Amino acid sequence: MIKNGISAFVHERRCNDTHAAEPYSGLADDYHTLLGDLAEHTWRVGVLPEAAQIRPRRSAVVVDLGAGTGIGGRLLATHMPSLTRIGVDRSPAMLALATNAYDRTLLAPIEALPLGEESADLMLSGFDTLNYLPIPVLGQCLREVWRCLRPGGWLIADLSSPHLLRRHWRDHSEVQELRDGTVHWHHRYEPAMDRCVSVVERRDAANTTCWTETHIQYAVDADQLQELAAAAGMHVERVRDLERDHYSPSAFTHVWTLQKKAR
Ligand SMILES: C[S@@+](CC[C@H](N)C(=O)[O-])C[C@H]1O[C@@H](n2cnc3c(N)ncnc32)[C@H](O)[C@@H]1O
Repeated sequence: MIKNGISAFVHERRCNDTHAAEPYSGLADDYHTLLGDLAEHTWRVGVLPEAAQIRPRRSAVVVDLGAGTGIGGRLLATHMPSLTRIGVDRSPAMLALATNAYDRTLLAPIEALPLGEESADLMLSGFDTLNYLPIPVLGQCLREVWRCLRPGGWLIADLSSPHLLRRHWRDHSEVQELRDGTVHWHHRYEPAMDRCVSVVERRDAANTTCWTETHIQYAVDADQLQELAAAAGMHVERVRDLERDHYSPSAFTHVWTLQKKAR
């Protein structure tokens, strides 16, 4: 009886305290249920096959940029178990769920990596993390990747396409059902900033708002990414659609493979 009373109180208080949260603070709890399958698919058909193709040495150090709840780290542990895995993310709520997926987790922005020079062989970034960086910050992140990679090291990342952000999500709403409520997404493209602003709202079973978060993702054109990469000292080795071997601008997701050049 007492336990039920406490749990009802906690639940009610949470959803009466409507607040705008940092991205991936409220969402962290429901991330696996809502987005886990899609994120895992992106890793399985995008990032992991590219990583297998470059054949990292057995003792390689791999850094997961925007590790989230550790979906990539767990897949790496299964498919490339000899690698040392480091997960980096700026969201404490997401990273708290990722600790068993990596040898080490670092709470940090990926544009200022707390890693030594030439300390990693491979950097991976799954499920559109790099779209969260404004273009100058993406350039800074690529320079950090260059600094922390050993010569000849690789970055493999998937990005949501400009087509998805500018057209498909121009003004797009959807609702996801959960056991104890719903999650409402509204995506709106802002031409002036060339970015998509997504408002995520969690409601409980009584339709009371528990929290809202705003996620901002920037459109990155292919030639823009190539220029940023070149300026950072990274060479674009290949880019393809997530689901295909070739590149088409209308795909929703592209997978990029970059290599650190000697300066
Ligand atoms: C779409 S989630 C992807 C999570 C994970 N890679 C996956 O595949 O499930 C994006 C993640 O990037 C993180 N993120 C966004 N911008 C970041 C930044 N500047 N520095 C560090 N992490 C960032 C968010 O906190 C979030 O966990």
